[in-house]
Amino acid sequence: MIIGVPKEIKEEEYRVGLLPHGVSILREKGHSILVEKGAGEGAGIKDREYTEKGAEIVSSSKEIFQRADLVVKVKEPQPSEYNLLQEGQILFTYFHFASSRAMTEVLLERKITAVAYEMVEENGSLPLLLPMSEIAGRLGPQEGAKYLEKEYGGKGVLLSGATGVSPARVVVIGGGTVGLNSAIISSGMGAEVYILDINLDRLRYLRNILPSNVKLLYSNSENLRKVLKEADLVIGAVLIPGTKAPILLTEEDLRIMEKGTVLVDVSIDQGGCFQTSRPTTHKNPVYLKNGIVHYCVANIPSAVAKTSTYALCYATFPYLLSLTEKGIKAQEENSALKKGLCLHKGKITNRIISRVFGD
Ligand SMILES: NC(=O)c1ccc[n+]([C@@H]2O[C@H](COP(=O)([O-])OP(=O)(O)OC[C@H]3O[C@@H](n4cnc5c(N)ncnc54)[C@H](O)[C@@H]3O)[C@@H](O)[C@H]2O)c1
Repeated sequence: MIIGVPKEIKEEEYRVGLLPHGVSILREKGHSILVEKGAGEGAGIKDREYTEKGAEIVSSSKEIFQRADLVVKVKEPQPSEYNLLQEGQILFTYFHFASSRAMTEVLLERKITAVAYEMVEENGSLPLLLPMSEIAGRLGPQEGAKYLEKEYGGKGVLLSGATGVSPARVVVIGGGTVGLNSAIISSGMGAEVYILDINLDRLRYLRNILPSNVKLLYSNSENLRKVLKEADLVIGAVLIPGTKAPILLTEEDLRIMEKGTVLVDVSIDQGGCFQTSRPTTHKNPVYLKNGIVHYCVANIPSAVAKTSTYALCYATFPYLLSLTEKGIKAQEENSALKKGLCLHKGKITNRIISRVFGD
């Protein structure tokens, strides 16, 4: 099989879909790998590292799409890539179909076989989304700590506090993957942390694994308002699968917080869980609303493209290997890949996606 790795062209996307180590394994299996010139640059991987493992560097994405049987990427195909797609080609990447009917129609017309990272499901979890949630969760307190600095409009508070001075209070709403990772980092930085969740079993689990400077609270408006009053940093990390994030903090609630409090809305990719959130970018990550700093970047992991590339590729590679060994037939034996197969031969093959678009 010929496997193609184009350079990502979506704005602020620096990750790449395959590591040099993956190239050597695929070469051992007899496959050919084409990597677009500079594809790994944003993640700190040089062309030479790919060629040393047996990849061929090609100068354009056009050539990649023309020659490859399977294209492995990070983000959904961009409009300028639509015309490059070849009938019957397998595309293995994040797609987020629900947010683009136009892209879905193009892929159906071009009879692309689409295997979506975000839909691959194993034992009830989403193994190709998980590493990005871990990273976004870990970056939340790091970004929050920065924007608490006076220069950025923050209160001028250090998460750890100082000798004789209380640590900052971090409130994490939602104790799933993002919330757990935010709590690990902020408690490690010495903050006083509260996690609120509606899932009591999850709270019980978190109680057993997190240190004593993390307090667990059932999530309701009364408990939330109680802890918000003295919050320095609030991290929104809720998810109700398949729907928009619920609004848990209203514009009115901003008044009970001290000016310079920082809100990090990680759930912004699902619409955001603070009423006053609107998506921001890495170039312009924050804005002030009623004196409260809002950080609402929708693709947080791209800020650490090198770490994210490795974490993503370690997770995707076993599935990529199955796809390259058996082609699309791999999904017949691999139930996780079967869930990831969304489009094939001009038809939607995944029930969730077909529900989104109707018949
Ligand atoms: N911005 C980014 O770059 C980025 C990156 C990764 C993930 N995310 C987003 O972060 C969010 C969280 O992802 P995750 O992987 O942690 O999800 P998850 O499913 O692991 O956890 C979500 C948690 O929210 C809890 N929850 C639901 N309703 C709640 C409520 N009313 N109050 C408190 N808790 C509630 C659930 O019980 C669950 O424990 C998602 O919206 C995801 O899309 C964003």
